[in-house]
Amino acid sequence: MAPNIRNHSLRSLLLAWVLIPLLFLLAIATGGAFYIARVSVTDAYDKALLDPIQALSQHIEIRNDHPVLVMSPESLRSLFTHAYDSVYFQIVNEDGKSFAGDLRLPLPAYLGSKPIFYTTYYSGRKVRVGVLRIPLDNGMRFDNVPHFVVIQIAETLIRRDRNLYELLAVMITPALIIAFAAILLVWFGISRGLTPLRDLQAEIAARSLLDLSPVPEEHAPIEVRQVIGALNNLLVGLSASIDGQQRFLANAAHQLRTPLAGLQTQLEIALRNDMASELRGMLEQLLDATQRAAHIANQLLALARAEPGSQYLVTQQRLDLAELIEESIAFWLHRAAIKKIDLGFEITSAPFIGDRLLIGELLANLIDNAIRYTGENGYITVRCYQDDGAVLEVEDNGIGIPVAQRDKVLERFYRVDGSPGNGCGLGLAIVQEIVRQHNAELRITDPDTGMGTLIIVRFPGIA
Ligand SMILES: Nc1ncnc2c1ncn2[C@@H]1O[C@H](COP(=O)(O)OP(=O)(O)OP(=O)(O)O)[C@@H](O)[C@H]1O
Ligand SMILES: [Mg+2]
Repeated sequence: MAPNIRNHSLRSLLLAWVLIPLLFLLAIATGGAFYIARVSVTDAYDKALLDPIQALSQHIEIRNDHPVLVMSPESLRSLFTHAYDSVYFQIVNEDGKSFAGDLRLPLPAYLGSKPIFYTTYYSGRKVRVGVLRIPLDNGMRFDNVPHFVVIQIAETLIRRDRNLYELLAVMITPALIIAFAAILLVWFGISRGLTPLRDLQAEIAARSLLDLSPVPEEHAPIEVRQVIGALNNLLVGLSASIDGQQRFLANAAHQLRTPLAGLQTQLEIALRNDMASELRGMLEQLLDATQRAAHIANQLLALARAEPGSQYLVTQQRLDLAELIEESIAFWLHRAAIKKIDLGFEITSAPFIGDRLLIGELLANLIDNAIRYTGENGYITVRCYQDDGAVLEVEDNGIGIPVAQRDKVLERFYRVDGSPGNGCGLGLAIVQEIVRQHNAELRITDPDTGMGTLIIVRFPGIA
């Protein structure tokens, strides 16, 4: 890609390509029109200058061998008075002496039988001058040389210029209208032309981050199909590599679980024996580390299962939140009792469609968090009910999650700074994946009491 078009929109690029040549053509057309208009206006007005010359020549008579102008001042005035322009004239005899008119301009060096026109300045104004040599056929000199006079007329250019610009406007206006219309058409044409690209952008933007299926090429304009083809190849490669990683993660976590569980059992058995307190301390640390490693392996496996495209087949069966919670009440009451937490359950039937194992993970992670992040003597309420779908609420009065971090805690391996316990930061990421798989909604908010955390998961209703 050339560096100069990197920052331009397609629209401005196309417009520039159309607009600049169009303006260039318009400038040439205007120049041409101006030239043609000036030639024709000058020609017409020059011809018109001959009329008063002819009129004056009709009134020249020879008196005492000298030409004189015989014309009343009124006729002269009517001949030379114009609405816009000033007109001056001068009649010179063959000796070069002016005998009529007030114009004082030198005569052209050479005068034939044809009129001469030229532009000059006279008393500070630009004028067009017409000069004609008029033969006088009434009377001959002794040497048989015909008499003649030279009539010179100068006219200011006001009417001429006005006419020139009027003509120019008539010639240029259609071109301007066409140019303006062309710009509008190009503008709208480009907008229309870019619609498929915008549709494509909307289609890609509307995708979920996890949707790596190919972008459909059929509706795209031919010009961008290659781009989409390349994008699709990339998506195929990406999805293959993600699948591979997912499989690797699930396998590794699975493979780790068994030896870790064995190690944990062995350590627990070993700790039942009498031993030196130093050794006991070491073994207890080892057990703690092993439990932690086993927890991470479990969480990783749960995450791998919850991700779309994992090999775990998500089942779609009719479940009831109330039943799922009831199944594990005893386990959680035991965990809560250790921390002297008041764990209450408010459960009513809340049917929905989902995967038993994944929902089990979701419940476990939310209740585990509530117990972990609530101090001794705190309270936790697990609630489920039916409200346009099944709703699960886990409420505690623990340390709470700062508002600014409520999105962040959903990320993998993210823990709020200074969180107690040795969690690995995967629990809510797992919950989030499971929520997505079930087209459910997850909301982290404050309980009515204003202290602690309330997590609400809302599953879509059964159609
Ligand atoms: N109920 C809660 N009350 C207060 N903070 C919470 C609560 N639930 C989650 N958090 C905060 O969110 C962070 C992320 O929770 P998450 O469950 O993802 O990870 P974890 O509990 O640290 O580790 P894991 O669950 O994988 O063992 C926690 O570290 C904690 O800081
Ligand atoms: Mg957790």
